[in-house]
Amino acid sequence: MSRIGYDLARARLMSAEEAAQKIQDGDRVGFSGFTGAGYPKAVPGALAEQMRAAHEAGKPFTIASYTGASTAPEHDGALAAVNGISMRMPYQSDPVMRGKINAGVSEYSDVHLSHSGPQVRHGFWGNLDAAVIEVARVNSDGTVLPSSSIGNNNVYLEKADKIILEVNSWQSEDLEGMHDVYSMKTPPHNVPIPITSAGDRIGSKYFDIDWDRVVAVVETDAPDRNSPFKPLDQDSKTIAEHLLDFLGNEVKQGRLPKDLLPMQSGVGNIANAVLVGLNEGPFERLTSYTEVIQDGMVNMIDSGKLLVASATAFSLSPDAAHMMNEKASFYRNHIVLRPQEISNNPEVIRRLGVIACNGMIEADIYGNVNSTHIMGSKMQNGIGGSGDFTRNAYISVFVSPSLAKNGDISAIVPMVSHHDHTEHDVQVIITEQGLADLRGLSPKQRAKVVIENCAHPDFRDQLWEYVTRAEAVANSEHTPHDLSQAHSWHRRFLETGSMKQS
Ligand code: COA
Repeated sequence: MSRIGYDLARARLMSAEEAAQKIQDGDRVGFSGFTGAGYPKAVPGALAEQMRAAHEAGKPFTIASYTGASTAPEHDGALAAVNGISMRMPYQSDPVMRGKINAGVSEYSDVHLSHSGPQVRHGFWGNLDAAVIEVARVNSDGTVLPSSSIGNNNVYLEKADKIILEVNSWQSEDLEGMHDVYSMKTPPHNVPIPITSAGDRIGSKYFDIDWDRVVAVVETDAPDRNSPFKPLDQDSKTIAEHLLDFLGNEVKQGRLPKDLLPMQSGVGNIANAVLVGLNEGPFERLTSYTEVIQDGMVNMIDSGKLLVASATAFSLSPDAAHMMNEKASFYRNHIVLRPQEISNNPEVIRRLGVIACNGMIEADIYGNVNSTHIMGSKMQNGIGGSGDFTRNAYISVFVSPSLAKNGDISAIVPMVSHHDHTEHDVQVIITEQGLADLRGLSPKQRAKVVIENCAHPDFRDQLWEYVTRAEAVANSEHTPHDLSQAHSWHRRFLETGSMKQS
């Protein structure tokens, strides 16, 4: 049965190639898509072909590409491969896209996810020429059912001069009722966001569409990106155990209730291991106020451990995505998908008292965290929502193995090579070696617990040598650094392939 129940939508039905022709060189385009869910499946590829043809004919054809977060090879990958993206924002993780950013072909601006939509609404990113948005159905009254992510779609639909809709029949129509579309305004017109618990619904099940601006409707039937998770390794399991012990102790000390507070869990395999640990752990009747729903959360809903999860998108393995499509009518009672300006909203995160847990590239002895850059210069993915959650969390946690690149890199360094989260925001650091609780500690006290509890034994002496030297050079000032040596570990890695002293 057709997913298009509205006459005007049927009248604007066309191929992806025809729809892509509505986008011109120099346009700023807002795309749907968040962590590989709900991105347009056909128009980006068709657009990439038109860019390729233009470039072969010696003509320029690039766009500024704004999304919710990361998309997929057939979206970011395809456009980046033809050098079609002049500016990209916000989070990305596609290897081709990353390569173009680090080769200087595409500009990239690493904006907090909760800022990205509002900044487009406020006009900080210029006029939005087009929006390309995947939806699951066009209703008979012209409203549309969102698909597996909401991201910044509400803003892009509100602001774009031209709207292109992709109606993807792979997405389950039973997602109906899972979404909660609520948009912020531009200051001074904002009011308090009336969410006081993770599962509150405050908006609409559908997007309202201004059909005067819809220039194309394209039908697709294609799955989301959905990559499988790696089997849990021992480091991830150990990191999850440290976090669970810590949370248990917080309950014992009366600083957390027995059912904890809403959990936020970052992207990746360690985050998934934490969820597996929670599913097997002692805590019941949990809630989650987070950004993406991963497999671990779906399993926790199945087991009854997790009552409700609020997010903006799915990030599921192929098996879990299949199950979500089959059983969306069950899961919609336990999952709320919101615009990312709400799922990641600092006001709500602080009110709910979220426990934030995110991955990192490296931390320094004083508790500053780098989530984004390799050796100071090379962009990995972006800050994503980690800043939204970390600064506003009740408890903020960062996790990482203590070593990278076969032991040649220490994740604990004298000074991070890029600052994403400052010592003021970071409360707990966990590696497989142990946990550093930085709350209530001065910089010198922090250095001791970070080195003793989190650094790998191969690097501990070297870190203590740095501290001794820094204290001598800085005359034991508040946060001692020897600026001539603070980045010597990174320099040594770049020069010799190892941070270890010979
Ligand atoms: N120095 C240099 N390279 C390092 C490193 C370090 N200290 N730590 C990790 N790396 C390298 C890894 O070797 C790997 O390289 P490869 O791609 O060549 O194999 C790469 O960085 C990614 O590391 P990996 O261990 O696979 O990362 P992950 O999946 O655990 O993700 C982050 C870690 C930090 C990249 C990821 O959590 C992220 O993008 N965070 C920012 C956004 C965020 O927090 N989002 C959630 C908010 S809701």
